[in-house]
Amino acid sequence: DWTMGAYREIMVEKIREQVGDKKVICALSGGVDSSVAAALIHEAIGDQLTCVFVDHGLLRKNEADEVVGMFRDNMNLQVIHADETELFLGELEGQSDPETKRKIIGKLFIDVFQKYADQIEGAEFLAQGTLYPDVIESVSFSGGPSVTIKSHHNVGGLPEKMGLKLVEPLRELFKDEVRALGRELGLPASFIGRHPFPGPGLAIRCPGEITREKLEILREADAIYIDQIRKHGLYDEIWQAFVAILPVRTVGVMGDGRTYDYACALRAVTSVDGMTADYYPFSHEFLGETATRIINEVKGINRCTYDITSKPPGTIEWE
Ligand code: XMP
Repeated sequence: DWTMGAYREIMVEKIREQVGDKKVICALSGGVDSSVAAALIHEAIGDQLTCVFVDHGLLRKNEADEVVGMFRDNMNLQVIHADETELFLGELEGQSDPETKRKIIGKLFIDVFQKYADQIEGAEFLAQGTLYPDVIESVSFSGGPSVTIKSHHNVGGLPEKMGLKLVEPLRELFKDEVRALGRELGLPASFIGRHPFPGPGLAIRCPGEITREKLEILREADAIYIDQIRKHGLYDEIWQAFVAILPVRTVGVMGDGRTYDYACALRAVTSVDGMTADYYPFSHEFLGETATRIINEVKGINRCTYDITSKPPGTIEWE
């Protein structure tokens, strides 16, 4: 892509100018945004970049190993795997309000980054994969008064006490442009094509209280759902697909027995930039087969629903 090739060179120069010989730490989440930001900054300044992968214990099945493995082993980036599961799940215990959950996670993210930044001598910059839609959605809505619809934790700058300046090379880009830039930088197609995943992770796909049990059930169900979508060749047609575990148990029958397990909701949407979205029109066969697999294979779920809400009036995530 000619345009992205030129953009890449301009951004590499800009990053070098901004950073000089100082060190940068990068909030690597494994999502397309932070992956592309990290690859771009790595191209500009090499080992002056250290990535911190904060594992908040709210990731999908095998996600931490896949992300850390790919950036360390395949791309030679310096990556610290900060497993802070206990810290995050401890602080989230008993919390069920969506914005409270986001605030707790956002605050801990900053604390954890600060901890690692302090260990990296000469670190003066923090890189973030903030996109243009993140910037505008958190500033205003429909030209009206400044309203925060959801407090995206990767937007709004970090507290000054952290003493780090921001490097945000994707601030002018929409998602499809970030993907084009990622391809330009040679990131593997499997990473470029990945569905977006929110910073607060599974916390906002687990409405109500978060427990380790629910997270484990959710991970298994989500893995089967995505496997089904890939097997049917639908992954690339969909902007985002995931399972939410609902805070309700329902009655079912299995063999000779009665079950009393969680209900889950499958979500899949098409979208151009995440600002608006339509639910994906799966065939009834696909939905039936997927529900059967999840209910048979995941212990703890006995009912599956499909969410047919568009955005607006709904949001893509459940919280
Ligand atoms: P909603 O649910 O607002 O989601 O329609 C739009 C897009 O943003 C993602 N999302 C988030 N990303 N922190 C993030 O980094 C958040 O708190 C957050 N909330 C939603 C969502 O996954 C979708 O791609």
